[in-house]
Amino acid sequence: MNNKLFFNTKINEDFSTVLSKESEHIGFYHLPNADTSEYKTYASTIKQKDIVVVGIGGSALGTLAIHHFLGLGQKFEKNLHFIDTTDPLVLKQKLHQINLNDALILVISKSGTTVETIAVVKYLQTFIPINKENYAVITDEGSALEKFADSYNLKVFHIPSNVGGRFSVLSAVGLVPLAIIGVDIDALLTGARGVKDSFFENHGYCEKLLTKATYYAQVSNSYNINCLFSYSEAFRELNAWYVQLWGESLGKQQRNSQLHVGLTPVGLIGPTDQHSFLQLIVDGKRDKTVTVIKIKDFENEIKIPEITLPALEKLDILNGHGFSELINMQADAMIESLEALEFIPLDVIEIDKVCEGTIGELIYYYELLTALVAQMLDINAYDQPGVEMGKIILKEKMSNNLSS
Ligand code: PA5
Repeated sequence: MNNKLFFNTKINEDFSTVLSKESEHIGFYHLPNADTSEYKTYASTIKQKDIVVVGIGGSALGTLAIHHFLGLGQKFEKNLHFIDTTDPLVLKQKLHQINLNDALILVISKSGTTVETIAVVKYLQTFIPINKENYAVITDEGSALEKFADSYNLKVFHIPSNVGGRFSVLSAVGLVPLAIIGVDIDALLTGARGVKDSFFENHGYCEKLLTKATYYAQVSNSYNINCLFSYSEAFRELNAWYVQLWGESLGKQQRNSQLHVGLTPVGLIGPTDQHSFLQLIVDGKRDKTVTVIKIKDFENEIKIPEITLPALEKLDILNGHGFSELINMQADAMIESLEALEFIPLDVIEIDKVCEGTIGELIYYYELLTALVAQMLDINAYDQPGVEMGKIILKEKMSNNLSS
């Protein structure tokens, strides 16, 4: 993965030490070194063809990002479905898509009591009886969901208590469902480990990430919107994961000043959003940074045929070019146009190809970047009081409804 930065800043080297210290009590840092044998052994016992993840937020988005990224280029051994909503229209649609006679339900919730997840479990059990063949649970040790699982003798995987929801994709949360459908989870972790080692051993990623994080923190008052402009549909769900990671981790009150700070994530897909949001970046308020993600080799040979269409002869310039060449030229043209403009901070990440290793790298890269920016902004990246408040109010509303 090559990260080209177009902006400069003074690097405060101390922050890599700050993260090292933080890693003594924050668990996501260590996930790339985890032993995956239990997950792979369990995966090899699963006979069902349809695997259903029931979970929301950090319990689903990362897995969805990896599944979508890899799924555009390869066929998996099994189908992976996600139910992360209480929208009755989607629930009905999902029921039609899932083979209820050949499904394994993976109930994933760190807290174990998230309303959306448990509501869906209650609904699904009317179609798929709860027993150890049909259901498994991924949750924190000792949660109410674990007790529920024990009462049915279901298989339980634990999420380390010091790994937060949105930082948990490289734990059992993501690795169990992905291993079941045949994703090479070791390659995923190897990719993440490469970034981890490089950062903590003071190699390439250390300077790159420190430079970028320092810049974001320094200009966070004026440039408080961070656009991730991803040049492939493969990144669509990764963008959604990034929006959650960045938004839920960096929208906080500062520890000391109590000031409300926050960086606003925006996920864009090229070339589609070149025809919409790009206008706002180019001519709008100078309050946005842009990161472009490109794929060097799409490993795809589809070409634009060498034909001339009546009245469209001028577009014969397209003839014979590969679509992968075209999409990358579109990205380069956009990069060049933004570079020529003033006050649009820009950087480019280029990954070699679509594979487990590169998505593992990207995930860990963004987790480290988030952790660094949070430290620099003096906020806690790992709590989510705003989200918890909504959960509490919802439960109160539901019980008031019940008693009225
Ligand atoms: O990142 C987070 O902490 C949240 O987005 C949670 O993942 C989300 O609220 C779901 O919570 P749980 O996994 O406890 O069901």
